[in-house]
Amino acid sequence: MTGDDTPSTEPTDTDGSSRGSGGFSRDTETAARDAAGVLADGGTDATAIDPWGSSTIADYRKLFEEFGIEQFETLLGDVPNPHYLMRRGVIFGHRDYGPVASALANDEPAAVLSGFMPTGDPHIGHKLVFDEIIWHQQQGANAYALIADLEAHAARGLSWDEIDDHAESYLLSLLALGFDHEDGTLYRQSQNRAVQNLAFELGSNARFSEFASIYGFDGETNVSHMQSVVTQMADILYPQVADGPQPTVIPVGPDQDPHVRLARDLAVRMRFFKITEAYASFEANAAERDLLAAAYDALAAALDADETVRCEDAADWLEKRDVAADRTAARESAIDKLAEAGMEPLRPRVRFFHRHGPDAAFEAMIEAIEGDKRVYEGHIDAFEMDLADAETLAREIEVDTGGYGFIQPSSIYHRFMTGLTGGKMSSSIPASHISLLDDPEDGYEKVKSATTGGRETAALQRELGGEADDCPVYELYAYLLANDDDGLAAEVYEECVGGERLCGGCKEQAAELMRTFLEDHQEKREEAKELLDDLDIDLDSDRRGSGGTH
Ligand code: TRP
Ligand code: SF4
Repeated sequence: MTGDDTPSTEPTDTDGSSRGSGGFSRDTETAARDAAGVLADGGTDATAIDPWGSSTIADYRKLFEEFGIEQFETLLGDVPNPHYLMRRGVIFGHRDYGPVASALANDEPAAVLSGFMPTGDPHIGHKLVFDEIIWHQQQGANAYALIADLEAHAARGLSWDEIDDHAESYLLSLLALGFDHEDGTLYRQSQNRAVQNLAFELGSNARFSEFASIYGFDGETNVSHMQSVVTQMADILYPQVADGPQPTVIPVGPDQDPHVRLARDLAVRMRFFKITEAYASFEANAAERDLLAAAYDALAAALDADETVRCEDAADWLEKRDVAADRTAARESAIDKLAEAGMEPLRPRVRFFHRHGPDAAFEAMIEAIEGDKRVYEGHIDAFEMDLADAETLAREIEVDTGGYGFIQPSSIYHRFMTGLTGGKMSSSIPASHISLLDDPEDGYEKVKSATTGGRETAALQRELGGEADDCPVYELYAYLLANDDDGLAAEVYEECVGGERLCGGCKEQAAELMRTFLEDHQEKREEAKELLDDLDIDLDSDRRGSGGTH
């Protein structure tokens, strides 16, 4: 059975080289539409987003329209102390982030988790995700970060020695940036037994044919690569095993969206109970249910409290009501079902379907439901409970009787940074990106040599203003260098487009900020080294083998 997020494989555009930056004054969608340039490991192919591809997300608008990612902007007002990456539209999209935002706002449990493939040095693109994890931790979330070593070995063929080195380096940057390891959890996929166990359970509920359609896996795909996918599914759901069911956000680049959708789907598939609203003993779809609700409300209002609304009266009421919007297939089928139910009372209730899991879970559920209830074959109707209470109860019973009670995980998506050399930011082109390990002087130089959105001459720049929205240097300010100082980011932007700022000075300022940032970060990395021993992570793994590449 599937949830509301059945993974899809709609085509997406792949190439394209337009780009933009997180200009303050632009709405997120416009910014997103123009943006591309992937740092990274993410990408797309002709049929789907491919998390292991190497090209770019060419068209952010498609992510909204075809893949159903929602715009972050509309939620921004609900987020307590939004991070600057949120305020500046760098975090542009989400799936179902509402429950996480509201848990943070109400001091209720929430979790954040993301993972890093240790394929190279951590760079300023990873810093975005490190910061997102740390921010959520500071807002009270249970924080998790993991090293995706199994994935790096199986899908990228990295040796265990390389993986050990890179793993250490990621952890140092994460700690240096402020991850609280005493309060949060850091692990390697290969060393987390509970994650492996969960992966095994989830794998029992996933089929190869889905992997084929979601990821393009085929007969040539190595089996450990597939195992790395179920492992990632387990990563995503692991906080809810460790800390109990709770809203969980996965901050990632949009290339990871297929994983998020599959995880959301598996979360539903693992549930013992499915809960819906209902009005009578028969099954009704959502459209029919709306009509039953309307009929019930109208008829009940006209009766005394101790009188009963009957299905056949509701059928008559719907028949007579002449509302254009009702003239649908749902109206006809609702009337038929009501007529057939005849004298049966029409009465709102929540329905617990027992989808799978032990009989003991069903028995325990019957026991636990308070107030008036009716037990049927495979489902229970509860008459004195609202939907939210029913959801909570079902989770409790599930967890008590050997299930997981997962809440579907949420995600937030950040935009990829443009390369300093103009094209995409790529780990394989050193001048295009800045590693967190770059010598501060090299960082300074890279910024000084970066492409800009400036005009041909200073005179033209004064006259027309620069194109901050198309400038990798402005992007550096917005994504990183201005830090929490919105005033600085806005000043650079306004001065640039207003023609008051020239690229030479602007780059000098940015380059100096970069040098300072790198010096400071590397100093903190040194300090963080002594924390490594506190972590329950083996950075000298004794695994053998050379891994896979497909
Ligand atoms: N697949 C991710 C990448 O390519 C790494 C990863 C593994 C991950 N497990 C995760 C990301 C869980 C987010 C959540 O970088
Ligand atoms: Fe970019 Fe600065 Fe030049 Fe504007 S002035 S185009 S922000 S480098």
